[in-house]
Amino acid sequence: MEDKRAQWGSKLGFVLAAAGSAVGLGNIWKFPGKAFEGGGGAFLLLYLIIVPLVGMPAMLSELSIGRASQSNVVDAFGKLGHRGYTWVGWVSWLSAFIITSYYSHVGGWVLRYAVAYATQSQTVYADPLGYFYRMLGYDPVAESTSFPLVAIVFAAVFIAVCALIIIRGVEGGIERFNKIGMPALFVLLLILLVRAVTLPGSAEGLRYLFSLDLSKLSFQTLLTALSQAFYSLSLGMSIMVTYGSYLPSSEDMPKNTLLVCVMDTLVAMIAGFIIIPAVFATLGPEGVGKGGGFAFVSLAGVFQQMPGGAVFGLLFYLLLLFAALTSTISLIEGIVVFLTERYHWKRTPTTVCVCAILFLIGCLYTCSQAAYPIHGVWFDFANGLSFPAFGDAMEFLTDRVMIPIAALGSCIFVGWTWKPSAAIDEIQRDGIRFRLTKTFSFLIRFLVPAVILVIFAVSMFTGTTLS
Ligand code: PFF
Repeated sequence: MEDKRAQWGSKLGFVLAAAGSAVGLGNIWKFPGKAFEGGGGAFLLLYLIIVPLVGMPAMLSELSIGRASQSNVVDAFGKLGHRGYTWVGWVSWLSAFIITSYYSHVGGWVLRYAVAYATQSQTVYADPLGYFYRMLGYDPVAESTSFPLVAIVFAAVFIAVCALIIIRGVEGGIERFNKIGMPALFVLLLILLVRAVTLPGSAEGLRYLFSLDLSKLSFQTLLTALSQAFYSLSLGMSIMVTYGSYLPSSEDMPKNTLLVCVMDTLVAMIAGFIIIPAVFATLGPEGVGKGGGFAFVSLAGVFQQMPGGAVFGLLFYLLLLFAALTSTISLIEGIVVFLTERYHWKRTPTTVCVCAILFLIGCLYTCSQAAYPIHGVWFDFANGLSFPAFGDAMEFLTDRVMIPIAALGSCIFVGWTWKPSAAIDEIQRDGIRFRLTKTFSFLIRFLVPAVILVIFAVSMFTGTTLS
């Protein structure tokens, strides 16, 4: 066990690490597509209202739980005198575990694409869908599957890099990496922004983003924006509990929360202002999409048609790579610190074992993407939970069930059991002034739980999830 709890070495270190966790694949490949579907400007406006009303109080609560308990997420509730909530910590911890196993493999695919754009962009352009499928072990011509070796080797490298950074500790590894990775991410973002908005034909996309067509706003758009905000700010998996537990008591948490939320939202908005104009200028509005299929397959058409496309493609996947790395690191840190604190295990072997297990579970996910036929190793109930459905089952379990339950549990904890006054005392420790105490109490007691409850209920019937 570490004798003394780790702490961030500097205020900037914490802000960049928390922003690094928040800024992830969700900002870059999900937000732009959702903004497009939600009518452009109207969605952006809605999102800008939701972040301060829902995201910020939830983040501040998680940070307060972490700093007050000085503990990992599972033990935090007990340390604050409410062992009855330990299950919330377990659900968060477990969902972080499941999510990391596939998020890290997707990180490996991103790394594969960065290398591909550097070395063989023409091969990607020639058959974008085929290239993606082949990486995952499926040959669309022969209609046959094989072991997805390429994807798995790159995932192993990606996870090994995360492990090396985590082994170096909170200040020496995570903080230091984010201090390089986050500025690099902003520079890449700005280069890509300039490229996208100067493409002939991009004005149409910009106009779409600035248009305020309120008729596109519906209940579904609201839910999409709410769930996107939650996922994007890394809420509901208690990463902010872990990162908050490393904060010195002299730190101004409301100010830090504001900074992290502004950075995360800014990156999402800039990603929107890159992807939408670029897709409008090349593929046309029909080309806008979201998720892995969009980022790996459709965007190849954009880079192919763009002057200097291979270079900008490489920069784009490097951007995704930094975003995925800093988010995966935060998730693994949350998993590891529980084991080192609860069971007094050493940080290095624990990190290595955790990463190895995550990698192996993730292999099942990657295999399931390519429908690699290992039926029988996993359940094979004819069409039940058979192998190809494994990835979907993981996503369903975490996005629709576990994360909303954990998020609801922790805000009910702060709103009704620990009480907002206790969180406010923690926030105001060391003489920090927090003016919005009444607003915070109202939001965390009523608005935030109501929102999560609605998303949870609706997600059972529609596809809306907290991701
Ligand atoms: N916020 C990250 C994204 O937008 O991709 C994903 C994420 C990371 C969610 C860490 C939750 C988390 F704890």
